[in-house]
Amino acid sequence: MSIDLTSKGLSIRALRKAFGAQEVLKGINLDLKAGEVHALLGPNGAGKSTLLGCLSGAVTPDAGEIIIGNRSYQHFTPTSAFEAGMASIYQHFQLIGPLTVSDNIFLVNEMRSRLGTIRQREQRQRSSEILESLGVDVDPGRLVEELSVGEQQTIEIARALLKEPSVLILDEPTAALSEHEVTALLELVRRLAQDHGLIVIYVTHLLREVLEVADRVTVLRDGNVLWTRPIEDLSLEDLVHAIAPESQIASIERDIRHHPPLLALEHYRSAWTGPVDLTLREGEIVGIFGLLGSGRTDLLEGLTGVKRSSGRVLLQGRDIASSTPQKARKQGIVLVASDRKEQGLFGSMSARDNLLLPHFSTLSRPWRRFGRERAIFAGAARRIGLKPADPEREGNNFSGGNAQKLMVGRWMTGVDSSHLLLLDEPTQGVDIGARQDLYGLIRDYAAQPGHGVIFASSDPEEVVALADRVIVLVEGNVASIVEPGIGEEKLIALAHG
Ligand SMILES: Nc1ncnc2c1ncn2[C@@H]1O[C@H](COP(=O)(O)OP(=O)(O)OP(=O)(O)O)[C@@H](O)[C@H]1O
Ligand SMILES: [Mg+2]
Repeated sequence: MSIDLTSKGLSIRALRKAFGAQEVLKGINLDLKAGEVHALLGPNGAGKSTLLGCLSGAVTPDAGEIIIGNRSYQHFTPTSAFEAGMASIYQHFQLIGPLTVSDNIFLVNEMRSRLGTIRQREQRQRSSEILESLGVDVDPGRLVEELSVGEQQTIEIARALLKEPSVLILDEPTAALSEHEVTALLELVRRLAQDHGLIVIYVTHLLREVLEVADRVTVLRDGNVLWTRPIEDLSLEDLVHAIAPESQIASIERDIRHHPPLLALEHYRSAWTGPVDLTLREGEIVGIFGLLGSGRTDLLEGLTGVKRSSGRVLLQGRDIASSTPQKARKQGIVLVASDRKEQGLFGSMSARDNLLLPHFSTLSRPWRRFGRERAIFAGAARRIGLKPADPEREGNNFSGGNAQKLMVGRWMTGVDSSHLLLLDEPTQGVDIGARQDLYGLIRDYAAQPGHGVIFASSDPEEVVALADRVIVLVEGNVASIVEPGIGEEKLIALAHG
């Protein structure tokens, strides 16, 4: 059985939105056709998430019109958007782990008998049908917490499809997925558009996904539509150029072979990764590459003392093994975690406090020195290209990519005493132009005397662009340590064992 979905077009007319004095959407016009995958691209802060927020009811536009089928709306609430046929998949899933797949799919939409009891059997049956029509092989009786991230995402999608929407909105949906899960999602997205006639609006910074999945592309810049074009007329270069006109992909040759060692790992194991034997030289940038669950994050967390570890760790010749986070920090080891919402960004704190937080004890003691803080913030904000460079703006009010710049920028202030910067997915959500800028900053960090960098990434392009050497992890084991010059395809092959 298939899901029956109505085919309706969606038109956005002269849509405007300002936050305070900042105009974020400056009169957006866009026509979306039933059955198309429409990629929405643009640099960080262009207004993509805000536009999607207007469609899902999370943001109230100031002016303009949203027309779906033959009905026109000035604005939505989350409920009225849902009723009008909008379905959004959020990056942080709205699922309840200890409940079954079918309970989650029917959450708040339970099928009930006349006595008010939930009709479990019918719900399971219907869940099976929906999942089957999505080509997803998951037992509706399983607990959601037992599923992989990719499976959980398909449950989110199944849930969104329960009310037969006509528009499916995905804002950077592949950030947490492994490679084959990304492939599966892209296929599912294609099928939803082609077979079920949905309009899929797809936001991503990963341009190769766009070429694979999109029928048409719209680029937003500065709150305006730059253009809308069919995918047949577009190359990867066109997309890069539209998003980051002045970007240049530079690769820099550096010779660090004669630099003194900064960090030596001898038979080092973190919770379930290792053993690793490695000497990181001053100035060196080592990448950790592997599939989701290969132990990338585990390895980094072991080094910061978040997780227990064994073996020898020598930092500038001193044995620092079995450290705690406080000790690691004192020794100059710092980590930018991959989940900025949960492990880094303080949403209700100002940008200045978010950036300078780790430095307060040296910078503003015994009392806050606001003048100095302001100067340091301004310098760092310029270096990392923070937009807007407003020290008072709350963390939550930055676009995704700019929030990421804030997290990395903590260690680019020039006032801290760290030596070893550990980065987990350093450019998550960062647009292609700004990504090159961040690479430059990370290289500058590493180039300072006594400094080094280890980063983990699931993006082979990033690993090749940034690393001097690459540790390839397969299921917690070091499969090999290679030069990035071997290229992306070889890296992917190694990561698959
Ligand atoms: N709630 C808010 N209050 C104030 N400003 C906001 C709010 N939400 C977004 N903004 C601002 O609106 C602008 C557009 O943000 P938006 O999140 O739409 O960008 P985006 O295109 O999704 O970027 P990214 O690629 O980084 O996710 C940014 O300058 C952002 O700081
Ligand atoms: Mg966004």
